[in-house]
Amino acid sequence: FVNKLHKATTIHWHGIRIDIKMDGVPFLSQAPIQPGESFLYDFVCPDAGTFWYHPHMHSVEQLGKGLVGALIVEENDPPSFDEDIIIGLKDWRLDRQGQFLPLSLPRHAARAGTMGTVETVNGKIKPVINAPAGGLLRLRFLNLDNSRVYHLSLKDFESYIIAIDGSPVKTPRVMGTHDIGAGMRLDIVLRMPEQSGQDVLIYDKKGRGHFELCRLQSTAPLRALKKATVKALPANPLATLNLEQAETRHFAFEWAGALSPVDSAGKVKDVFWTINRRAWEGMNAASVPAPLATLALGKTYIFELHNATPHGHPIHMHGLIFTVLSSDKREIEPFESDTILLERNERAKIAFVADNPGRWMFHCHVIEHMKTGLMGYITIA
Ligand code: C2O
Ligand code: CU
Ligand code: CU
Repeated sequence: FVNKLHKATTIHWHGIRIDIKMDGVPFLSQAPIQPGESFLYDFVCPDAGTFWYHPHMHSVEQLGKGLVGALIVEENDPPSFDEDIIIGLKDWRLDRQGQFLPLSLPRHAARAGTMGTVETVNGKIKPVINAPAGGLLRLRFLNLDNSRVYHLSLKDFESYIIAIDGSPVKTPRVMGTHDIGAGMRLDIVLRMPEQSGQDVLIYDKKGRGHFELCRLQSTAPLRALKKATVKALPANPLATLNLEQAETRHFAFEWAGALSPVDSAGKVKDVFWTINRRAWEGMNAASVPAPLATLALGKTYIFELHNATPHGHPIHMHGLIFTVLSSDKREIEPFESDTILLERNERAKIAFVADNPGRWMFHCHVIEHMKTGLMGYITIA
């Protein structure tokens, strides 16, 4: 990677169970890559699925202005779909002239995050995406936005969820409305209508309204369709949980209000969120704050998460994939993931085997939330 920006940066490979040295977190896993410098990212991807990458420095600006991309790891034995389509969701904060508006406003950072003004799919406004009539499609949705939650829906059109945040589900699940917060992904399968010229609409469902994000238009297939059916993707090689012997840790996500303490330079610092009563202090070459938790390598842990705030938070863990076990807000059929969207006042349990040694960030993926307190890391040693 060659940094041709005017500011330091790093690249984080979101969802990859990577070697800590390649995780791309400044100060925690590597030195920031200065303008003009380069860094060799060299790693193995143990899991197949839909992942993504983005800087982990100056994130409000660097992600907000578009430094995000899909990272697809193919299955060893690729399932046969007629088409595999990426749907990258991202909004842009632009004024009418197309200039960037301020990317973060404190009054929104203290709430659900500062939203974009122009909604796009793969960089276009409501695109029409061609797909073969009668074909079996895999759609990979990626929420590449800094703040927004999408409530994905195809209304009554038949489709099945086959992976959540890159991880295959054991059996395909009927797709209703599925929420994906910032940083989250969803893979679904659907069969295009048999006749060409027919559209399948993909919506963001807000309240009772359905708002079109993009549409798939069936076109006469160029080649013979495969005779595939909807089936589960092969499982990724995750270690087996040992729940009987698991140790439980508690994490409370709280709204700190407008604390606005003054930093060493006398500048007002916006701190709105805390994890276990502690707001992320920020780090630099000279000081890395203490971890939120220290875990023993190889042991199973249950994290009890409590979102004690009036806003939703997509809570993400680096370097590991956890199993979502339960929630007090909904019926959960356990599934694997790297990010859990906690709705307000929700309590949920996740579990994982701490099998990847390192210092792994654990934070909200609403970029402004992580910048104003909702961030920390766990050490596995
Ligand atoms: Cu997409 Cu720290 O993560
Ligand atoms: Cu990540
Ligand atoms: Cu948040």
